[in-house]
Parts: sequence; structure tokens; C-alpha cells
Amino acid sequence: MNADLVVVGAGFFGLTIAERAASDLGLKVLVIDRRDHIGGNAYSERDAETGIEVHKYGAHLFHTSNERVWEYVNRFTTFTDYVHKVYGVHNGEVYSLPINLATINQFFRANLTPDEARTLIREQAGELAGSDPQNLNDKGIQLIGRPLYEAFIKHYTGKQWQTDPKDLPAGIISRLPVRYTYDNRYFNDTYEGLPTDGYTVWIERMADHPHITVQLDTDFFDESQPLNKRALVGTVPIIYTGPVDRYFDYAEGELSWRTIDFEQEILDTGDFQGTSVVNYNDADTPFTRIIEPRHFHPERKYQTEKTLIMREFSRFAESGDEPYYPVNTADDRQKMLAYRDLAKAEEAVLFGGRLGTYKYLDMHMAIGSALTMYDNKIKPHFSGGAPLE
Ligand code: FDA
Repeated sequence: MNADLVVVGAGFFGLTIAERAASDLGLKVLVIDRRDHIGGNAYSERDAETGIEVHKYGAHLFHTSNERVWEYVNRFTTFTDYVHKVYGVHNGEVYSLPINLATINQFFRANLTPDEARTLIREQAGELAGSDPQNLNDKGIQLIGRPLYEAFIKHYTGKQWQTDPKDLPAGIISRLPVRYTYDNRYFNDTYEGLPTDGYTVWIERMADHPHITVQLDTDFFDESQPLNKRALVGTVPIIYTGPVDRYFDYAEGELSWRTIDFEQEILDTGDFQGTSVVNYNDADTPFTRIIEPRHFHPERKYQTEKTLIMREFSRFAESGDEPYYPVNTADDRQKMLAYRDLAKAEEAVLFGGRLGTYKYLDMHMAIGSALTMYDNKIKPHFSGGAPLE
């Protein structure tokens, strides 16, 4: 192996490190991934039957207010002017989300001004004012009042966690956004859009450098192939973006995650739901939402005979499942403190990305934190001899 740096994981975190190290420092970088494609969870592919771009691991919408990240990502792709909006079904009616003045007026069959709506929600939230909510249910009622909470939050959250919100800790939510305008733009960021030629083209351009070698189908823990942990650690600096508990052989126990099962279907219609994401807020629908990816790219003029939809079912991950969202119980946080100490003590190995740090990171956060790791640790090490820690 002829590499100055090994990166485990070809997601946004790992590829940002690889790209910077190769382009800025001229290092030879070897990137390995256990999957058969690059891009990590942001990977997308064209469905063979419909030609529609499908985000294989769930809908990925790019948004950021970080100028440095925006400048960086624009080196590899342009973005469409897609603006994300979400709708939700409750009691057989479609509402605009996140909860805004249109949602409130439709729900209460009213014509309230922003001030009147604010007063109403304050009164309804007053039911539990001054109390110390002991579970997510009480916290939700205290934040936005019982009627809106029960219609739009209670069952959706219950389905996401497969747990009655009365049995979930209050700390899962600190605020529930309510907008007293008709603005239903989902994200508040300065920049938003989808990569014009798709995620995979963007990601391939990041890896397209003569000093970057990507080796797929290569598990860092598989000792039957040469590029494994035992063979590499201590011989070459490593950036590890896989699960931190797996790296230490679960010495402090397994960290808990939620996962999503996707049920994909192709339908004989040009348009199933008229928009990209519809949430199902009631308990009688088992899935949380339906994604219709054709609406992410209206500019592409996809064929109109068929469309593709994905229903999402959320549940706790078991071993072998894709880890998607950290559950982050008090027990997990305790384990993570111990893993952080172990990680710090691991010489010439840096841990990054969502799996390596056990944090939910949006794409712009993963890229931003990789750029920071590059500036603060990798560049000083390779250009000035600072220890890699
Ligand atoms: P990522 O998981 O992408 O990459 C890690 C890589 O390491 C994987 O390719 C994995 O195969 C590899 N790996 C793990 N173990 C290994 C081993 N033993 N050996 C070799 N390779 C190994 N963000 C956003 O901005 N907008 C959005 O709309 C969404 N939507 C969204 C939906 C869902 C369902 C999820 C789960 C996540 C999102 N995200 C998102 C977040 C986004 O997916 C996230 O920011 C990036 O995946 C983070 O990139 P990383 O490189 O950290 O991890």
C-alpha cells in the first residue's frame, strides 16, 4: 500500500478530508468503504424503470448558512433552485407544515391574525404552564397547546420512536416551531437546493483526483483482506468515519440508533401526491411519510407514465440494521464519554463524521466539521509535524 493517509468511509466527511489532503497538500490518499458505492448515506441512483433519481438512504436536501461550506461545495456542483416544503395529512385533510398561520387557520376553521393566533396558542399552552414536564407528551402540550400537539406531533413522534410519547423523555424536544406567518419554507438557511446533476455526480467529482484511490467493498474490520484495522493502525495516519463503538469492539457496550425501512413502489401515474414529501400525522397510518422523488427535480421533465414513491417506517435499529439517528439516551451519553477517551488515546487515528462521533449531522455540518478537522489537525500534522491527535 502506497498511501500517506487512509480514510475509512467514503461519505461526505471522509471525502472532504480526502479531497483537501490530496488537492491542498498533495498527499496520496486511500479511501476504503465497505459498501459497493461512494457517497455514504447521501448516495443516489437513477431508478432503472422510471429514470427518476432516488436517494437510496432517505431524502437528502442540501441547505446551509455556512459561507465556507457553500463556497466549497460549489467547486463540485451547481445547485437547482429547489425550495423544500412539507405537507402533512391529519384526519383526512392536508395541512401545510411546519405549523404556520395557514395550518392554524385551517385547523381551527378561523381567519386569525398573527397576534390573535399567538394569543390563542399561548392560552392553549397554558394548560400545563408552570409545571415541570416529565415526558415528551406534557412537554409538547406545554409548548404549543394540546390541540395542535395532538394533531401534528403526538402520533408522528410516537411512530418515529415506536414509543408512546408519554414514555419518551421530555428532553427529546426543546422547542416546537410555530410560525405566525404564511411562510412554509421548511429550512431557514441562506442557501438551499439540490445538486443539478445529482448527488453521485457531485460526490464522484470530489473523489476525482489523481492522488485519491477509492477501494469499495472493503470492510476495515475484515481481516481476510489486506486493508484492515490490525494491518493499518500504527503504520499510517487514519481518519475513521465508521461507528465508534465498532472500532473499539463494543468495549463500552453498543450505542443505540433508530433506523428506517423504506418501501418503494412504482405506480402507473405521472404524479402520486403533487409534492415531494407528505407526512402522515395520525396513528392509523403505520408509515411516517411518503417521498415522491420526481418532485425534487421538476426541471428534469421526467417521463409522465410512471412515478416512484417511498414509504418510510421508523424503528429502533438492531444489529445489522443501518444506523440512522442516534437515540442518545443517558446510557448512550455515558458510553460515549468512555468512547471519547478511548478515541483520544488512539495514536494517529482521528474519529469524524456522524458514525465516528455518534451525532446527527446534516450534510453541511459533516462537510464543515471535516474542513475544520483538516485545518486544525491534518494540515498542521503534515506540513508542520504537529502530532495527529
Ligand atoms: P456517512 O454515513 O454518509 O458515511 C460513512 C461511511 O462509512 C459509509 O459509506 C459507510 O459504509 C462507511 N463505513 C462504515 N463502517 C465501515 C467499515 N467498517 N469499513 C469501511 N467503511 C465503513 N442531511 C442533510 O443535510 N439533509 C437531509 O435532507 C438529510 N437527510 C437525511 C435522511 C436520513 C434518513 C439520514 C439517515 C440522514 C440524512 N442526512 C441529511 C444526513 C446525511 O446523511 C449526513 O450528513 C451524512 O451522511 C454524513 O456523512 P458522513 O460521511 O459523516 O457519514
